[in-house]
Amino acid sequence: MNEHADPSAASLDTVEGWFDPLDQVLFAWFLEHQRKSGVRGHLLELGAYMGKSAILLGGHLREGERLFVCDLFGDDASTRANQRENERFYTGVTEDAFLANYRRFHATPPTVIKGDTSLVHTRGLSGACRFVHVDASHQYGKVRADIGLAEDVLTGGPGIAAFDDYRSPHTPGVALAVWEAVLNRGLNPVCCSRAKLYGTWGEAAPTRAALAEAARGWRFAEVFEEDLDGRGLLLVKPHGRTRLFAPLPTGSP
Ligand SMILES: C[S@@+](CC[C@H](N)C(=O)[O-])C[C@H]1O[C@@H](n2cnc3c(N)ncnc32)[C@H](O)[C@@H]1O
Repeated sequence: MNEHADPSAASLDTVEGWFDPLDQVLFAWFLEHQRKSGVRGHLLELGAYMGKSAILLGGHLREGERLFVCDLFGDDASTRANQRENERFYTGVTEDAFLANYRRFHATPPTVIKGDTSLVHTRGLSGACRFVHVDASHQYGKVRADIGLAEDVLTGGPGIAAFDDYRSPHTPGVALAVWEAVLNRGLNPVCCSRAKLYGTWGEAAPTRAALAEAARGWRFAEVFEEDLDGRGLLLVKPHGRTRLFAPLPTGSP
């Protein structure tokens, strides 16, 4: 993992969305660590918007793996609260706009599941994914259901789930659902950044130790080890004023 001085490395910046450079680095680290550890499986994103995080995920696919993305892409939501958040934050998002962005980076499009995230259950992905990005609705009930979905689709290898906005002031429902999963639903936290918490339903300690060792070598980040009532957690935050350029996706397989 490294810092890039090359301005072309900032090209994900040309895609609209919410995906901090430090989280881009963390996604890349988890996916690369899984590759080196022989963990295989598909990648799944719940909530793709204009493709910013999906594009990075698509750059880490290996032979035989696929990227699945699920988004309403402008369809009506099944609850009023979910519909309200979409009208407030995601107007104008369409499958065509997402795919146009994705095509600028990768020749092969992902498998798009257009509709509510509950549809993913029909795709036969149980135990077939190594990484899930949970970033669709930020309402408690929906996130709670998406967490159940993430647990179902992840491999025991261990698969990694990233939860967006687990502590943002405007998304208390995500915080409730994520910490509930840590306390009562077997989710083992690995690390958290300002915007995302990363966890697994497998053993977290080996991945956390490997990340701690790697992150100590990053000039652009600081890491702190926390104890959460006996559970370990690594806090990763940007170091000082270092401008961080995230690694570029490497292209479709
Ligand atoms: C925060 S944005 C995703 C951001 C994207 N991951 C990125 O990094 O740029 C949330 C997306 O979730 C979608 N969404 C909201 N509720 C949903 C639901 N119930 N099922 C599927 N997608 C949903 C919205 O259409 C929106 O595109």
